Amino acid sequence: MDYIEQSFRFKVYSSVDELSLQDKEMMFMAIQQLEYAYAPYSKFHVGAAVRLENGVLCPGSNQENASYPLCMCGERVALYNAAANHPNVAPQAIAITIRNQKMPIQKPVSPCGACRQVISEYENIYQSPIRILLKSDVPEVIEISSVKDILPLGFDGSFL
Ligand code: THU
Repeated sequence: MDYIEQSFRFKVYSSVDELSLQDKEMMFMAIQQLEYAYAPYSKFHVGAAVRLENGVLCPGSNQENASYPLCMCGERVALYNAAANHPNVAPQAIAITIRNQKMPIQKPVSPCGACRQVISEYENIYQSPIRILLKSDVPEVIEISSVKDILPLGFDGSFL
């Protein structure tokens, strides 16, 4: 028996002001998307924006349903929006932000397991990492350089 240890590093920016112009623009689109979230049940708004390799930004927000399992996360709405409208163009980064109408959230909220799996699929298609930028109600922004860092021992098409 042996142990294999895996760790990862991520960046912490003190605020959006520290981001590059392109990342700032992407994060502002995600923040804007909070207004378009349809979240009457959870009151938890998620805004996202995907930047493609050609520079195009694709927005998304969570969309809920009275039949709860049909709720769709903001990250996936943005990624599927990108894939549907810009086929064969690699996503390079995704900005994700949240607003919980019930209480402020003081730490970054990272994508759920299902969204991690979907981000991973798009990384695999284009063999290129997708940077993930996270922001909640505190000024700090976190950047994860690839979803593989937060989805260790992941499942992919190579097993099929
Ligand atoms: N949600 C997202 O949009 N992204 C996540 O990564 C986690 C959860 C949404 C789904 C649902 O509309 C609400 O947040 C509460 O779970």
